[in-house]
Amino acid sequence: MIFYFTASGNSKYVADRLAYATGEKTKSITKCLQTGQLDFEIPSGENVGFVCPVYSWSLPSIVWDFFEKVHFKTAADPYFYYVTTYGTISGDTGRAAEKELLKKGFVLQAQYSVKMPDTWTVIFDLSDKEKVQKKNKKAEEAIDSVIAKVKEQAIGDYMERELPYFLAAIGRKKYEKDRQTSHLHVDKEKCISCGLCAKDCPIKAIEMQEKHPVWLKEKCMMCLRCLHHCPVFAIQYDQKTQHHGQYVHKKFSRILYEKEHDLR
Ligand SMILES: Cc1cc2nc3c(=O)[nH]c(=O)nc-3n(C[C@H](O)[C@H](O)[C@H](O)COP(=O)(O)O)c2cc1C
Repeated sequence: MIFYFTASGNSKYVADRLAYATGEKTKSITKCLQTGQLDFEIPSGENVGFVCPVYSWSLPSIVWDFFEKVHFKTAADPYFYYVTTYGTISGDTGRAAEKELLKKGFVLQAQYSVKMPDTWTVIFDLSDKEKVQKKNKKAEEAIDSVIAKVKEQAIGDYMERELPYFLAAIGRKKYEKDRQTSHLHVDKEKCISCGLCAKDCPIKAIEMQEKHPVWLKEKCMMCLRCLHHCPVFAIQYDQKTQHHGQYVHKKFSRILYEKEHDLR
């Protein structure tokens, strides 16, 4: 079983490739939390993988939440592995996942990383489609290598661009602070009031008020899903985001997302 969280499709794509190569099923962490399906029986011989993006050198808040609430019943000790998709620095994600799993009495046997386009367009520019395509092409090699290692149930830390714990802790603290003052906002002139942002938000942190989205800052994890998926690019974080483009992995369609999350 492969659990994943995705906002823009990178991690979903990696999870899908792993599923295809290993014959195992994928499960959306967003959906597990939304439906309360958090107890899993793992048949003997099955691996348990997690594929998630890195946020501020650490785990996205939804992934912390998932690790806290999930329960695994296992016949034997399954092969647990964690894959982070990242844009620049993979931070402390593998070790964080390892610690969370240990609290449940399980050992994370391997941790991997795959460098992909950086969806934090508050800083990174994804407006050049050719450059983005090149990055995704390069990611294929890293994905192939993760698949090969997972298939042989390799043990170890294969993450690139890691950070020492104390630095990652600073990143996480800053992220928690930034979330409280998130600058996500909508251009009301451009907004077509379709409500997709509110409908799609993984943690229901957007409310439509007077036909326009309003962000519940105490909930929002700034995954930028709303910004990247808005059909008219009416959602911005700051002045820079409007020049840095929207990004959704090419294999990740809205129809697919709706199907997986029963939004139709
Ligand atoms: C809020 C936020 C914080 C991020 N922080 C980092 C980071 O610290 N290091 C990094 O390399 N990439 C960072 N990224 C980029 C994502 O981890 C990366 O693009 C990932 O592949 C996105 O996965 P997804 O498409 O499955 O959502 C961040 C993205 C967001 C939205």
